[in-house]
Amino acid sequence: MARWGSKKICVYCFCFSTLFFLIITFQVVTELGQFEKKKLLKSLLKGNQQGVAFRGAFLSKKSLDNMKHHNPGISYPILVWWSPLTGETGRIGKCGEDTCFFTINQTFYNHKMTQAFLFYGTDFNIKSLPLPRKPTHHWGLFHEESPKNNYKLFHEPAITLFNHTATFSNNSHMPLTTQYLKSVQTLTSQTYFVNLSEKKSLRQKLAPLVYVQSDCNPPSDRDSYIQELMKYIKVDSYGECLHNKDLPADLNSSLAMDNDHFFRILAKYKFSLAFENAVCDDYITEKLWRPLSLGVVPVYYGAPNVVDWLPSNKSAILVKKFSSPQELAEYIKYLDENDTAYEVYLKWKKKGEISNKKLFSEIKRRRWGVQDVFQDNYIDAFECMVCNRVWENAKRKEQGLAPMLWQAQAHHLSCPAPKAFSFSTDHTKQSPLHEIWLPSFEQSKKEAIALRALVERNKNFTAQEFWKLVFKN
Ligand SMILES: *[C@@H]1O[C@H](CO)[C@@H](O)[C@H](O)[C@H]1NC(C)=O
Ligand SMILES: *[C@@H]1O[C@H](CO)[C@@H](O)[C@H](O)[C@H]1NC(C)=O
Ligand SMILES: *[C@@H]1O[C@H](CO)[C@@H](O)[C@H](O)[C@H]1NC(C)=O
Ligand SMILES: *[C@@H]1O[C@H](CO)[C@@H](O)[C@H](O)[C@H]1NC(C)=O
Ligand SMILES: *[C@@H]1O[C@H](CO)[C@@H](O)[C@H](O)[C@H]1NC(C)=O
Ligand SMILES: *[C@@H]1O[C@H](CO)[C@@H](O)[C@H](O)[C@H]1NC(C)=O
Ligand SMILES: *[C@@H]1O[C@H](CO)[C@@H](O)[C@H](O)[C@H]1NC(C)=O
Ligand SMILES: *[C@@H]1O[C@H](CO)[C@@H](O)[C@H](O)[C@H]1NC(C)=O
Repeated sequence: MARWGSKKICVYCFCFSTLFFLIITFQVVTELGQFEKKKLLKSLLKGNQQGVAFRGAFLSKKSLDNMKHHNPGISYPILVWWSPLTGETGRIGKCGEDTCFFTINQTFYNHKMTQAFLFYGTDFNIKSLPLPRKPTHHWGLFHEESPKNNYKLFHEPAITLFNHTATFSNNSHMPLTTQYLKSVQTLTSQTYFVNLSEKKSLRQKLAPLVYVQSDCNPPSDRDSYIQELMKYIKVDSYGECLHNKDLPADLNSSLAMDNDHFFRILAKYKFSLAFENAVCDDYITEKLWRPLSLGVVPVYYGAPNVVDWLPSNKSAILVKKFSSPQELAEYIKYLDENDTAYEVYLKWKKKGEISNKKLFSEIKRRRWGVQDVFQDNYIDAFECMVCNRVWENAKRKEQGLAPMLWQAQAHHLSCPAPKAFSFSTDHTKQSPLHEIWLPSFEQSKKEAIALRALVERNKNFTAQEFWKLVFKN
């Protein structure tokens, strides 16, 4: 057990606040830089050069390259976002050796330098796709959100339309599996750790388990499970779903979820219900990383392959190992009463030891950071991956080589159909799973087939044509 003298804590606090201050200062400077960059870019796009005087004051290398730019898109490959995602009407971006022009301005569809279209999964819309698609047009898909958004992309006919992918799946070209994990150090951090003797005295007022969720009745059917679990063990539920306890007034908004005070409240619990809103390999969110970071044992339901990502074998309780909520409740009660058995799950945390080498290498492998001013974010990284690949083919062409082919495969974005828990089959009323998620998943298979047929026809099409085809099949 790590002993924390109060002096030591003070030193930590001091260092932490200093670091915090430095980071905030740096962030402000960076944001100012971004602001200047945008202003400058605007003036440059208008052919106005006076912005050059700002040079070096705030600007990153990326934006310095904007200086060279007089005539948008003529001399660089153009990558058009078919989504308002980035809000950038035009930016010259440097990706290592390569330079590309990125824009959300769809009028560039016709530009002769346009090489790629980038799509954002959540707003991928069958209306007005960039068709006809020329043989040279790369299509890239960025989809970082929950699998419950835009099911039609999750089927082979649809996902294989793309050349480049960035999704939660570790099989995609740029896996976003760890997008909610800032660093390995966040996991081992003791910042919020509440020791067992403290937790035991808090247990007089608190339930063993905490649950905070405001997205109720998602495809994973988690609320049915938790409702059943609550028959056998106490759960403090602060969110809108199965709500039975209020947060302090200052936290009564979903905006406060990333807040120090909120973390302190969660950290007091022994266990936290970490149930994803969908069940797919590699779909792992802050629901898992947060309790691990706070020193609370996650009771996890979601990615079937979560063990590949856990810091150690004994760091979470896996719901799927129990035959029923009742059996799970019995086990949690046992751990609640047996300190030795409970602390086995926190051994890695107290030692600051991550035995999962894969987790380390995945964090190291990623070319982007999470809320990290020193690294590209995942959207920049995705843009650059496609930019580099477009350039690679341009260079190969110059050398008389055949182009590289990139093709998304079915397992770049795939999830099994949502499934209801057996005990949730209530004959008197239908669950949202039966009413919404299952039918929409089934229909999305037809949508994927229709989408593929229309894209292969290679003429633009209307929504009516699309839906007619969906319901004909
Ligand atoms: C889009 O680009 C065209 C030139 O290709 C320009 O005329 C138009 O103003 C741009 N639209 C926006 C919203 O930037
Ligand atoms: C546990 O934490 C409390 C409060 O921070 C502290 O007073 C106590 O000494 C700690 N106990 C042990 C065994 O570390
Ligand atoms: C928090 O908000 C919910 C609904 O928005 C409300 O029902 C509840 O009473 C509020 N709790 C507190 C402590 O303000
Ligand atoms: C993710 O994919 C990479 C490359 O295929 C593989 O080496 C690695 O083991 C996978 N990671 C996990 C945690 O499954
Ligand atoms: C408590 O857990 C430890 C470690 O798992 C075990 O050896 C011990 O028998 C348990 N004690 C009781 C009373 O169940
Ligand atoms: C987890 O346990 C298995 C055996 O049960 C072992 O092969 C594996 O290396 C362990 N993984 C970690 C990360 O400790
Ligand atoms: C992109 O995907 C399309 C459709 O599968 C394919 O025809 C084309 O050759 C691919 N382009 C590249 C550069 O791999
Ligand atoms: C297809 O595109 C052309 C030119 O952009 C446009 O005039 C036409 O209305 C579009 N047709 C459909 C069916 O959307």
